[in-house]
Amino acid sequence: APDIPVANVKAHLSQLQSIASGNGGNRAHGRPGYRASVDFVKSKLDAAGYQTSIQSFTYLGATGYNLIADWPGGDVNNTLMVGAHLDSVSAGPGINDNGSGSAANLEVALAVAREGHKPNRHLRFGWWGAEELGLIGSTHYVNNLPAAERSKIKGYLNFDMVGSPNPGYFAYDGDGTSGSGGPAGSAEIEKVLRDHFASINVPVEDTAFDGRSDYGPFIRYGIAAGGLFTGAEGRKTTAQAQKWGGQAGVAYDRCYHASCDTTSNINDPALDRNADAIAHAVWTLGGSGAR
Ligand code: PHE
Ligand code: ZN
Ligand code: ZN
Ligand code: CA
Ligand code: ZN
Repeated sequence: APDIPVANVKAHLSQLQSIASGNGGNRAHGRPGYRASVDFVKSKLDAAGYQTSIQSFTYLGATGYNLIADWPGGDVNNTLMVGAHLDSVSAGPGINDNGSGSAANLEVALAVAREGHKPNRHLRFGWWGAEELGLIGSTHYVNNLPAAERSKIKGYLNFDMVGSPNPGYFAYDGDGTSGSGGPAGSAEIEKVLRDHFASINVPVEDTAFDGRSDYGPFIRYGIAAGGLFTGAEGRKTTAQAQKWGGQAGVAYDRCYHASCDTTSNINDPALDRNADAIAHAVWTLGGSGAR
């Protein structure tokens, strides 16, 4: 897999920050900053050769949008999906939550195009609306797919908060080491994501696979899933600070759901490692033979 340039991911975050700043300080469902965020990501993907579509839905009297981007080729009956929510809360610009996952996935998608990558499996990326109001966009997408289309999605990777300023390195517990685990295939996804961190000697902990982000609607249909997380309102323990660095007794993200979730609220090494792990998983799980 290619090494994802963190500078490119950060450039996308700067664009999302500008969009928020120019639209009342947020990128929330129903606000102009959300639609502008969709248009920004879509234009990058269109220029790179993706087939994009915008799916609209209505929630609380406002129109929401999911952005879907298909990379042409690969076995559509064995589709790998990669997603992130693109909306923020109304309190702030949402740069770590979830500009980080949105920008990392965008840069991995652009790397697929730059490399002329021809994975065996079909690749589809999704940027979800209204996650912050209860996984509304991702639920709408999964529930409205015809059953025959839903059954072609054989795996889903989710990235929500991957640049926390006092980062932990967490993988969703797909194999059930710390809980009940996920649908068949989730253990392999967790392993592939963990393998990247093993290769750079960064220890990874499990985090609950409880449906607290957009993978929830996918696992409810039995679709294998996984993902990474660098922490939200929880506090880093002393043991975690010893192995990962950072501040013990302090939240992973002190600006979680707050106005200070700006471009200053990002830990660059965490963002870089997570973006590289996403690429590693897309290349490994997608297969690298000819289409
Ligand atoms: N979904 C949460 C939010 O957007 C963040 C989160 C992600 C929490 C993953 C737990 C695990 O606010
Ligand atoms: Zn989030
Ligand atoms: Zn959030
Ligand atoms: Ca585990
Ligand atoms: Zn790797």
